[in-house]
Amino acid sequence: MSFPLYAPAEEHDMLRETVRALADEKIAPRAAQADEAEEFPWDVYKALVAADLHAIHVPEQYGGAGGDALAAVIVIEEVARACASSSLIPAVNKLGTVPIMLSASEELKQQYLSAVARGDAMFSYALSEPEAGSDAAGMKTRAVRDGDHYVLNGTKMWITNAGVSEYYTVMAVTDPSAGGARGISAFVVEKSDEGVSFGPKERKLGIKASPTRQVILEDVRIPESRMIGAPGTGFKTALATLDHTRVTIAAQALGIAQGALDYAVGYVKERKQFGKAIADFQGVQFMLADMAMKLEAARQLTYHAAAKSELAMKGQPQKDLTFLSSAAKCAASDAAMEITVDAVQLLGGYGYTKDFPVERMMRDAKITQIYEGTNQIQRMVMARQLLK
Ligand code: CAA
Repeated sequence: MSFPLYAPAEEHDMLRETVRALADEKIAPRAAQADEAEEFPWDVYKALVAADLHAIHVPEQYGGAGGDALAAVIVIEEVARACASSSLIPAVNKLGTVPIMLSASEELKQQYLSAVARGDAMFSYALSEPEAGSDAAGMKTRAVRDGDHYVLNGTKMWITNAGVSEYYTVMAVTDPSAGGARGISAFVVEKSDEGVSFGPKERKLGIKASPTRQVILEDVRIPESRMIGAPGTGFKTALATLDHTRVTIAAQALGIAQGALDYAVGYVKERKQFGKAIADFQGVQFMLADMAMKLEAARQLTYHAAAKSELAMKGQPQKDLTFLSSAAKCAASDAAMEITVDAVQLLGGYGYTKDFPVERMMRDAKITQIYEGTNQIQRMVMARQLLK
């Protein structure tokens, strides 16, 4: 049985104010141009690093800010309210490093978590392949042992922030005879490792300022010490990671939706038709009420899942985390899609143009229903939890 666990502390409220101020000042003004140019916003990255908001989840013992899961949610939510692409900086840094936090040796933790905490490097997560998306265990990338090294070959696809990240958690088959999930291991691969290259940037509908590229591995030889956890545990680590980070995708969806709702509320109060503000029409009011209701319901579920994620991260396993993280991701991303579509509707023809931010927000919302597992996969995960 789940029960309410989270209660945002005063520090969480202060954190939200800090991130919102930074996002209003430095991120929102850049968002449209970064989207248009499809360029990674390095200035935003630097601003987030300067404020220690680029990877707030990294524990203090590795030089991080030691923020809890709710703090990471709040950072991602507030950055996404201004710019979804930029919110992938803290989100993907978390996605790439949670496998390390969950399963890696102390040596790997010291080396890689500290580098991310300092802002010296970003960290991406490489699970999917051209022919292994929802069926992630069907991957073909191989890691073959050679003395005290592994040699990796294969192509990872849809890798967020590929090319701008220095480090990658790469899942690869080490034991094909084990069949699927049990023969997969996780590794840290560095951008500078010989044999690592990147495909061209995907030409996408949204999150255009965050590069999505293939990570191509050709005879990449890495020391065995770069394996995360024991051989054959990589798939479990990959799925356990998603239990934590689907909550951060929910946060991104909440932020995008909040940005669209806030903009639409401001607009309908200003826009006059038939001699009065369109906010005075009940049809418009009902739309706004539904948007805010869906958003708040998704937010409560996300914060609840974040509290569970935090307990699990502290070593107290939470049986319902898998269900709740999928539920939060699914509910928040479906809500974000509906809310952003309605925001465009409320702005009418103006909403359909690039002169207003809701068009970008609607495009950005779509990916939250797709990545870190499509919402069909989330429903499958939830149903499996119910039926097992
Ligand atoms: N935590 C830990 N272990 C888990 C787990 C969890 N949440 N869920 C399952 N496992 C274990 C199982 O117990 C099983 O282990 P045993 O064989 O020892 O029992 C093993 O993992 C395999 O589990 P399943 O048999 O359930 O695996 P499956 O092949 O049926 O797949 C799936 C399950 C849920 C469909 C999974 O493949 C999945 O989540 N697919 C979607 C993939 C996904 O989300 N991809 C997104 C990649 S990230 C991204 O989007 C890129 C980006 O940059 C943003």
